[in-house]
Amino acid sequence: MSEMKRDYTSEELGKMNESELARLGTELDGVTVAYRKERFPQPNDPAEKRAAMGVGIYFLLALVMGLAFAAIYLFWPWQYKTLGESGVWWYTLYTPLLGLTSGLAIIFLGMGAMNYTKKFVPEEISVQTRHDGPSDEVDRRTLVALLNDSWKTSTFGRRPVLQGLAAGGAALAGLSIILPLGGMIKNPWRPSHKQDITGTGTLWTTGWTLADEGKKVYLARDTGAVAVEREGEYSTQGVTRLVRVRPEDLDAGGMETVFPMTEDMVNDGKKYDPRRDVYEEQMHSVHGSRNAVMLIRLRHEDALKSIPRAGQEKFHYGDYIAYSKICTHIGCPTSLYEQQTNRILCPCHQSQFDALQYGKPVFGPAARALPQLPLTVDEEGFFIADGNFIEPVGPAFWERRS
Ligand code: FES
Repeated sequence: MSEMKRDYTSEELGKMNESELARLGTELDGVTVAYRKERFPQPNDPAEKRAAMGVGIYFLLALVMGLAFAAIYLFWPWQYKTLGESGVWWYTLYTPLLGLTSGLAIIFLGMGAMNYTKKFVPEEISVQTRHDGPSDEVDRRTLVALLNDSWKTSTFGRRPVLQGLAAGGAALAGLSIILPLGGMIKNPWRPSHKQDITGTGTLWTTGWTLADEGKKVYLARDTGAVAVEREGEYSTQGVTRLVRVRPEDLDAGGMETVFPMTEDMVNDGKKYDPRRDVYEEQMHSVHGSRNAVMLIRLRHEDALKSIPRAGQEKFHYGDYIAYSKICTHIGCPTSLYEQQTNRILCPCHQSQFDALQYGKPVFGPAARALPQLPLTVDEEGFFIADGNFIEPVGPAFWERRS
């Protein structure tokens, strides 16, 4: 068998047109086209128009489903509703509809592409022998020509309607993957709802922010109380989850985790009323993601050595000092107070904060001091916030300046 010429010069290759290069490519690759048949050899074949319409319908459906996904994602009522609330069924349908529309968009797109290949790309059976090593210039040039030839014979390049529908369908199906990322972008200035005890209005707010509105906000301990069974029914009536704290409740060197509680949520001591049910509201405070505060009673000799931050000289109450429990690194609870060294340790990445120096970080990845809550005691002798935090609580975010 005679050896095939392979050493074509750039000049010789430059003189060949696309179809000559494509043919050369198949020969050089040792490809034998055993069978090839155009789908629609006759121009203006009505069957070709019907096939194009069929494919177009799939791409159109993909486009419609993509649009439906975007509309549902943006406008469907997604806020959580419990059973019995109005709109619960609309809310329940939100996630299934997102899944259905995005799934159908991708399925229709795939069906359009499959049908196009089946109906328009020439039917062909080719056989190729494999070669070892990298391809030379001839192979590379002829490969490009072959790809161009495939594109031309697929006739997709001269079908602008199908191109548009396929591109639109693909873009919208892709959108169903990208669009949900938008839900992660949050404007930190925009209150998501009215300020309440959960404190989740903005990244600047906590339950203690209610002190800014002139409300009395108690420092309250979580008793862990749960609903009680009465005559076979569970009830939270008369159950007090949060109780107010007095200075004498803590030993020197002790620490207590406390949560904000407004006057209308109090149901303890002389104000206890077994008929009241404040449990749910108190649990909102416990669940507020930025609410937890460490109330620390320093040993007196240590308190004398403490160094306040400029502008926070009056934030403590005697030997008592209160810091946000939310680590300024990435928000774990900094629960470990070590009374011998007066260090507060975050168990997540071992940041340490100095309780004697306005909670400033002294070790680990945290870079900012724990925000300090101003403290005082009311006329009944209970701890209350003497104002709000003067800086945001928790990890840094792009809008904060400190
Ligand atoms: S979250 Fe506290 S050290 Fe990382």
